[in-house]
Amino acid sequence: MPVDSWFPLAIYYEDLPDATTQNPALLAAILELEASVQERRNFPEMAWTGDLHGIHQVHLDDRFSWLVRQVEAHVVKYLQILGIDLSKVDLYIQRAWPVVSRHQQEVGVHCHNTAHISAVYYVSVPLSGSDESGCLAFIDDARQNELSPGLGSENTDVVAEWTPFNQDQALYPPVEGRLMIFPSRQRHGVTFNHTDDVRVSVSFDIVLTAAAGSAAGVYEFLTPPPALWRRFTSIGGTETP
Ligand SMILES: [Fe+2]
Repeated sequence: MPVDSWFPLAIYYEDLPDATTQNPALLAAILELEASVQERRNFPEMAWTGDLHGIHQVHLDDRFSWLVRQVEAHVVKYLQILGIDLSKVDLYIQRAWPVVSRHQQEVGVHCHNTAHISAVYYVSVPLSGSDESGCLAFIDDARQNELSPGLGSENTDVVAEWTPFNQDQALYPPVEGRLMIFPSRQRHGVTFNHTDDVRVSVSFDIVLTAAAGSAAGVYEFLTPPPALWRRFTSIGGTETP
């Protein structure tokens, strides 16, 4: 009998054609940025993430301009797939940072609360396409078919078979040269890099705002364009710079 599947999560990916020629320079730039930071701010089993180490604006760094253009082009395609009227919105790269994962390092599960669309590009991947080098893992928080809360947890042993209707995560092995795009609020993490080599990626956070001059009602659901904001001239009696 037919069983329909509804409300799919949209995970976009594209293998960028110029990756092979662009990646060596990107890798060199990222390793240079990583080496420029002396203090390590996370645990040794966690991958080095630029956003925790003050390296979170590579979108403004000329060495990343090719990648920024790619992200812009593919995010637009992603929004078209989602049915967004592009004439009604503006898009901003809010943050972008490299992630360097060495042997037995991971990125814990999280989501990007300050953004709307997130992207990751794989600059260098040992055993490209293998889950040994650390998968991007999306966690299903909606669990629409979890008939009783907690059913299927590792403590219950009730689920006899994993099917597309009860899986609680989706794993994407990293592929060198691949760009992935997903909703920022979707929880995700990166599994351990079991290889001996370094796995390097760049993450982007993108914000959707209303386009200037949008029709009435749009501003209730989309942030008005920042160009229309007015910053406080003083906070608590202190003039803002
Ligand atoms: Fe992330």
